[in-house]
Amino acid sequence: MQRHLISAADLSRDDAVLILDTAEEMARVADRPIKKLPTLRGRTVVNLFFEDSTRTRISFEAAEKRLSADVINFSAKGSSVSKGESLKDTAQTLEAMGVDAVVIRHGASGAPYRLATSGWIDAAVINAGDGTHQHPTQALLDAFTMRRRLVGRDTGLGQDLAGRRVTIVGDVLHSRVARSNVDLLHTLGAEVTLVAPPTLLPVGVESWPCAVSYDLDSTLPKSDAVMMLRVQRERMNAAFFPTEREYSRRYGLDGDRMAKLPEHAIVMHPGPMVRGMEITAEVADSDRCTAVEQVANGVSIRMAVLYLLLGGNEPAAAPIRTEEK
Ligand code: NCD
Repeated sequence: MQRHLISAADLSRDDAVLILDTAEEMARVADRPIKKLPTLRGRTVVNLFFEDSTRTRISFEAAEKRLSADVINFSAKGSSVSKGESLKDTAQTLEAMGVDAVVIRHGASGAPYRLATSGWIDAAVINAGDGTHQHPTQALLDAFTMRRRLVGRDTGLGQDLAGRRVTIVGDVLHSRVARSNVDLLHTLGAEVTLVAPPTLLPVGVESWPCAVSYDLDSTLPKSDAVMMLRVQRERMNAAFFPTEREYSRRYGLDGDRMAKLPEHAIVMHPGPMVRGMEITAEVADSDRCTAVEQVANGVSIRMAVLYLLLGGNEPAAAPIRTEEK
C-alpha cells in the first residue's frame, strides 16, 4: 500500500483486493454489540471539507471513531478559509497540531495531490473527492457492494469482479465517481460501459478503459449493475441538455426500464439522488437499489483504508479479542 490514497488509478489489483478483504473484516465489527476497535487510539485524523458533503463526511467520521481515533472536523464554511486563508496555511496549522491523517474534500481537482506532495504536512492524505477528478473511497465502496451482491459474501474473500458488466449512466463529464469507478473496476477486471448524452461525456473518453454508448435501453439487458449518476448542476456553466424532462426520458431509470435488467442485476447510486430526474422514487425505493447499503459499506471501506494507511501490523479485527481476555 502507498502512504496516501489520492486516486483509484494508483491502486494495484492486490491493493484493491486487500482493502476489500479488510473491509469485510471491518463489517463484522458492525455486527458486534460494541462497534469499536482500539486500532487508532492516540492517532489524530482531520476531516478537511472544503465542499458540501453528507454521506462521505459522516461515514469517514463514523469510521474514524469506530477505530478509536481522535477526530477533528473542519469545514471551510465558518473557518478562516472564508477569510482568504490558503490551503498551505490551513495545512501548516494542521501540521502544527500533529495530525496523523487528513481526509480532504476540495472543489479543485488536484488539491489532495498537492497536499500529499507539497511537504507542507507529514500526514497521510486521503482524497474524499476533488473537483471532477477522483473519489477513490467511493469506487472502493461501490466495488465492495458489487462484490457482496454479485459474487457473494462467503466466496467474496480474495475474489474480484472479473467479467462483471457495470453500466454507469448520466453526467460522466462532471463525475469523479465515474472516473474512479472506471479506473478501479478496470483494475478488478470488470467490463464498464458509460451511457450519457454526448454533451456529458468528457473529451478523450475514447482512451478510457471502458465502452461508451448513447442508448440506455440496449445496454440494460447486458448489465449486472447499473450505476445512476446525479446531474451535477453546481459544476455546470452552460446548458448540456434541452430540458430535465428530455434528460429523464432518455437517461433516467424508471420501473419500466429497470424491468429490462437481468433478474440478478442491482441498481446503484452514490447519492445524493435527485428523485424524478436520474431515478424515479419507485426505483430508488425498490429492493434492487443498493443506495443505502452503499452508505453502510462506506463505513467499512473507510475503516479499512484508515487502518491500512495508519494502522499497526496487527490483524485489523484482532485487538478486541486481546482486550476481552
Ligand atoms: C458524489 C460526490 O460528491 O462526488 N457523492 C458522494 O460522494 N456520495 C456524487 C454527487 O455529488 O452527485
